[in-house]
This record gives sequence, C-alpha cells and structure tokens, in this order.
Amino acid sequence: MRDPMDLMDAIKTRRSIRKYKETPVPENLLKEVLNSARLAPSADNAQPWRAIVVMDEQLKLKLVAASYNQKFLALAPLVIVVCGVPDEAFQTIGGYMSAHVIDAAIAIDHMTLAAHAIGLGTCWIGWFKEDKVREILGIPEDVRVVALTPLGYPDESPERTPRKNLDDLVMYDKYKAT
Ligand SMILES: Cc1cc2nc3c(=O)[nH]c(=O)nc-3n(C[C@H](O)[C@H](O)[C@H](O)COP(=O)(O)O)c2cc1C
Repeated sequence: MRDPMDLMDAIKTRRSIRKYKETPVPENLLKEVLNSARLAPSADNAQPWRAIVVMDEQLKLKLVAASYNQKFLALAPLVIVVCGVPDEAFQTIGGYMSAHVIDAAIAIDHMTLAAHAIGLGTCWIGWFKEDKVREILGIPEDVRVVALTPLGYPDESPERTPRKNLDDLVMYDKYKAT
C-alpha cells in the first residue's frame, strides 16, 4: 500500500469515480476502508449502521438494475451498501429527527475519503429503489438503505465539479435570506 494521502489533500482531490479497473481490491485495503467507517462519530455513539460488502457478480448486476441501470456500479470489483438502523439510533436530533441517516452518511463519507487516500475510488449512489435493494440483499423491513458505493481502482481522473462560493453558503452571527 502506498502512503496514505494527507487528509486535506484527500478532501480536495476526491472525486466521484464512475469508471473502474477490474483489479481486485486487496483485503487489507477493504478492511482499512471499512475501519474508517467504524471510527466515524455517531449521535450518542450509537453506531446505528451496517455495511454489506457485495462481491457476487449476479448480485452486483441486480443492484445495477435496482439503481436505475447505473451500469458503472458493477464495473468495480465490489459494492458497499450502507444501511441505517432506526431502532438503534438516537431519536431526537434537534428535538425532531432520528440520527440513523446522518450517522450512516458520516460512515459513508469516512469511507469515500479513506478510500481515496489509499488510491481507491468510490461514488455515492443515492438514486436507487430501496425495496429492490432490500429484496436483493435480504435486508429486513426495519433497516433502511441509505446509500451504495462501488469500491475499486479508478480508471478515470475526473475534473473537479463546481462548488458554490463560501460566501453563498456561510453566514456569520445571523441567518441572512438571499
Ligand atoms: C447523497 C448522494 C447521492 C448521490 N447519488 C448519485 C447517484 O445515484 N449516481 C451518481 O452517479 N452520483 C451520485 N452522487 C454523486 C454526486 O453526483 C457527486 O458527489 C457530485 O456531483 C459532486 O461530484 P464529486 O463527488 O466528484 O465531487 C451522489 C452524491 C451524494 C452525496
């Protein structure tokens, strides 16, 4: 494994990867990525998420179909499906919200950055049919599918996608309607 990238470099250079080499992901690197999710913060440290690592080719193809035919998903040697477990989650973020989606999303984001830092690519997939993914992988009714990501060696180097300016996103002291 090459030396992992510095965190700020990883944040600045990560891209969503939609083309992958067939090269398998070494077990130790997969574990490194999964462990980065394990170390993610969560509300009340509840860790209300699960990750399913899908390597079976037939299952991957079914996940493509469940993801509106986003074919690149199956180009990667494996797909990680991340679920939130509402029953385990802190229920009242801000007094109104279950944390299971937030906590699962933080775990996923740790994985996307850790993967990039060690030379692997990912792409958040939020465009999927939950009931289909649930059926394909045997996910119970009380567990929610939050997102999928392929994981593999990138076969493209996409340009940076645009971002709003900080001034358009950040306010000081008071909310200012635009
Ligand atoms: C919650 C979420 C859902 C997304 N769903 C998809 C998706 O279904 N398919 C896809 O190709 N990209 C998806 N993306 C990737 C975004 O399009 C991408 O992050 C954005 O365009 C910025 O590009 P970058 O990730 O290369 O910086 C998703 C990203 C997020 C955070």
